[in-house]
Amino acid sequence: MILVTGGAGFIGANFVLDWLATEGTPVVNLDKLTYAGNAGNLESLRNDGRHHFVHADINERERVGALLRQHRPRAIVHFAAESHVDRSIHGPGEFVHTNVVGTLSLLEEARAYWSGLAGAERDRFRFLHVSTDEVYGSLGADDPAFSETTPYAPNSPYAASKAGSDHLVRAYHHTYGLPTVTTNCSNNYGPLQFPEKLIPLMILNALAGKPLPVYGDGKNVRDWLYVGDHCAGIRAALARGRPGETYNIGGNSEKTNLEVVHTLCALLDELQPAGAPHAKLITFVKDRPGHDRRYAINATKIRDELGWGPQERFETGLRRTVRWYLDNKGWTDNVTSGAYRHWIDANYRERGTA
Ligand code: NAD
Ligand code: TYD
Repeated sequence: MILVTGGAGFIGANFVLDWLATEGTPVVNLDKLTYAGNAGNLESLRNDGRHHFVHADINERERVGALLRQHRPRAIVHFAAESHVDRSIHGPGEFVHTNVVGTLSLLEEARAYWSGLAGAERDRFRFLHVSTDEVYGSLGADDPAFSETTPYAPNSPYAASKAGSDHLVRAYHHTYGLPTVTTNCSNNYGPLQFPEKLIPLMILNALAGKPLPVYGDGKNVRDWLYVGDHCAGIRAALARGRPGETYNIGGNSEKTNLEVVHTLCALLDELQPAGAPHAKLITFVKDRPGHDRRYAINATKIRDELGWGPQERFETGLRRTVRWYLDNKGWTDNVTSGAYRHWIDANYRERGTA
């Protein structure tokens, strides 16, 4: 049994599905079901007795403690977070509440539970904290990629809140001996990603014939990783990662935003022709404040120590992703109703494309 937090979100849901298909041991999935969490992501597990969903906030300490004592998980895999940089600019408070205070609550309950374990159960327990490369800040064009020893320099409220949570996790290992492992991963893409993030937003806008809003000059660089590869990296870190260590996970696939959007447009021209090329919809809009220029990951440590490397190439992964969105219109219609519209209006009206 493992306890997953945030397992109804994009990466968490992919992880739960991947875990049950590979490891196969039961999962307790604790999720608050914010706008980003969607029970429908786990619809295929409706009759699967190995998946136990709990609708709760990681800040509800008593419930978390009771779950740990009841299910006695051998690991906690912590995904739950507010995760969108643009939302953190509009409202940083929720990011501190969940990412920093929520992680502290979870660490406290994990420590209490782990302290009560003995022998092999205590030795094998792990607290795996899922984090981001954004904690390292922004790279210049010729700077070496982020390694595990790159100093933290978060620039957005999101990155700062994730950095805070990483520091707490580190401190719980050094101070209390809690067997923690932290992973810092680059930008993910793939099925089930909420369409506020670059790739699904561009796919859905293109299909609707709406403008494709590229921030600034579109030359910001991200390192893209297929979500299934991230899940495999987390499984490797959980199985073989050394307590107290951090591991960077990346796709070795640096692209400018414009390259990503043009590749998506070409795929849609092929798979869902619209008469005019989709690239005609590309619209340059007002930049994100404090927009990090470049992220890049040096994933040598996880490759050498844990034998992990990305399996999916960007071109094939993106094709799979576009196909998934084309084949799952019911899912996108569901998540883009209601509150989604308010966010799109708030974020893009000021940029002139709402
Ligand atoms: P997401 O926003 O899609 O999902 C977050 C999930 O957490 C949702 O299901 C939400 O309901 C849940 N949640 C939020 N607040 C909660 C709370 N207080 N208590 C319980 N559940 C809560 O995020 P994602 O993209 O799947 O990211 C998952 C994790 O991976 C995050 O920690 C994020 O920082 C990290 N990460 C994401 C990326 C990426 O590219 N998406 C890259 C690296 C790391
Ligand atoms: P995003 O998916 O929000 O991830 P992050 O900011 O965490 O890297 O954005 C990826 C890149 O795409 C980032 O440089 C901002 C840019 N972007 C746009 O140009 N237009 C958009 O509408 C969005 C959502 C993002």
